[in-house]
Amino acid sequence: MASHAIEIRNLYKIFGPNGVDFIDRVKAGMSKSELNEKYGHVLGLQDINISMPAGGVMVVMGLSGSGKSTLIRHINRLIEPTAGEVLYDGVDVCRMNEADLRDFRRHKTAMVFQKFALLPHRTVIENTVYGLEIQGVPAAERQKRARHWIERVGLSGFENHYPNQLSGGMQQRVGLARALTNDADILLMDEAYSALDPLIRVDMQTVLLELQKELKKTVVFITHDLDEALRLGDKIAILRDGKVVQQGTGQEIVLNPADDYITAFVKEVNRGRVINVETIMTPLAGNPEGMPIAAGTVLEAAARAMTAANQTIAHVVDASNRPIGSIPLAAIIASMVTPAEHDQHAQAAA
Ligand SMILES: Nc1ncnc2c1ncn2[C@@H]1O[C@H](COP(=O)(O)OP(=O)(O)OP(=O)(O)O)[C@@H](O)[C@H]1O
Ligand SMILES: [Mg+2]
Repeated sequence: MASHAIEIRNLYKIFGPNGVDFIDRVKAGMSKSELNEKYGHVLGLQDINISMPAGGVMVVMGLSGSGKSTLIRHINRLIEPTAGEVLYDGVDVCRMNEADLRDFRRHKTAMVFQKFALLPHRTVIENTVYGLEIQGVPAAERQKRARHWIERVGLSGFENHYPNQLSGGMQQRVGLARALTNDADILLMDEAYSALDPLIRVDMQTVLLELQKELKKTVVFITHDLDEALRLGDKIAILRDGKVVQQGTGQEIVLNPADDYITAFVKEVNRGRVINVETIMTPLAGNPEGMPIAAGTVLEAAARAMTAANQTIAHVVDASNRPIGSIPLAAIIASMVTPAEHDQHAQAAA
């Protein structure tokens, strides 16, 4: 069962009794604050266009109130749009009839919540089978599938524990096992890891990445944390006041932040551990010089290898060891340094 992309097209959400009445004014440029102050409606989302990669992790970032939860809740239509489309496998979720929508929610989507949302009076396995019970899957099959996923998230032996007997990280593993047991294509994770301690959080990222290598679900993952976004996201969209300010790969965003808002987001990131050599290499002119460095190597690792080998220039090689670009140590170091301001950076990149 292959996952499909999710296409969000021209999506608007205006909260309030007469949202639709304000669409034209919002399209004509009315700001979120004007709409709120003059008309008492809240602009949740405006003109969102995002292609979420099939079988990949789409990260949505943004400050509090920027519209992240509003966006993710449109994907399983917990929120009705004021205008626009949410396409999955070519079908507009916003136009599904009740039966199709119920089917879509049950079989195609699963959610993982920040507060885990486990049923306290149910054991780990009873929580995990919950979705299958609703689907009417026979008990033996439910148990088999649940045990499989409990094992995969590293909770074997805890099947009969209650949530309050588990740490936060373990409870979130149950949340993940429950979502995976549903066998849905789409995994919706709204700040799923935000309540966890930093080290546990990194563990949970690793669990997701390991599972995702083989599962290839279409994951929509909301976070405030740029390191988490960069680690997990095949693609990242950054929202501000309900609008997408920038979308692209983590590399693209870190290297070319679209404006000062994004610059502020990416300022603290460790660029040496994010940017790959092929992102900053120059095309080969003539024979490859210096030592070979594999494409996909991050700058910090490349700099370390070159320094150890006492080389000031290297060439990047692809998976079949073909030289594809040239990379001087000076360029690596320059790209590892965080630009002071957006303007300065834009000049440097020009
Ligand atoms: N049901 C609602 N009625 C009115 N306004 C709402 C409603 N839900 C959300 N909003 C408003 O829509 C905007 C986006 O909210 P949303 O919850 O999507 O932000 P968020 O990015 O998820 O924030 P956070 O990081 O705090 O979770 C905010 O201005 C919020 O106040
Ligand atoms: Mg939210």
